[in-house]
Amino acid sequence: MVDKRCSCCGGENPEKVQIDAILARYQGKKGSLIPILQEVQALYNYLPKDALEYIAASTGTPIAQIYGVVTFYSQFHLNPRGRNIIRVCQGTACHVRGGKVILQTIEKELGIKAGHTTEDLRFTLETVACIGACGLAPVMQVNEDTHGRLTPDKLSAILAKYQ
Ligand code: FES
Repeated sequence: MVDKRCSCCGGENPEKVQIDAILARYQGKKGSLIPILQEVQALYNYLPKDALEYIAASTGTPIAQIYGVVTFYSQFHLNPRGRNIIRVCQGTACHVRGGKVILQTIEKELGIKAGHTTEDLRFTLETVACIGACGLAPVMQVNEDTHGRLTPDKLSAILAKYQ
């Protein structure tokens, strides 16, 4: 069983205590693995390996089964995510209106490729096929905000709004 003590100070690890609270709410309930994983992911913004091991040990679920679920559903993330999620549309309408240049400009500005997260965890950069705002192409979303009719010169000012 994973130690609930912090490895650096020996005190109670507050995140493990929070995981315990989540597990307690679902104790004895069938089909609760996915909601448990969703709540734990909400704690960390991703699913750290030691959190998955802790869930496995605490619930008696084989770790392979947990990884099977986590890797099957795209909603789960095994790597740290940024505080702000950028989704640059690469659907057809956005592609023909310069979506690729928008993506390349953001990649250059942030120093990361699509699918990665900046070292300071400020941004995660992703691509999407269509976000249903084709009339505003080229489009990107940052968190819940949609930014349309993008041009490369608008991007710095938009990204600067997100800390
Ligand atoms: S193709 Fe980009 S919003 Fe539809």
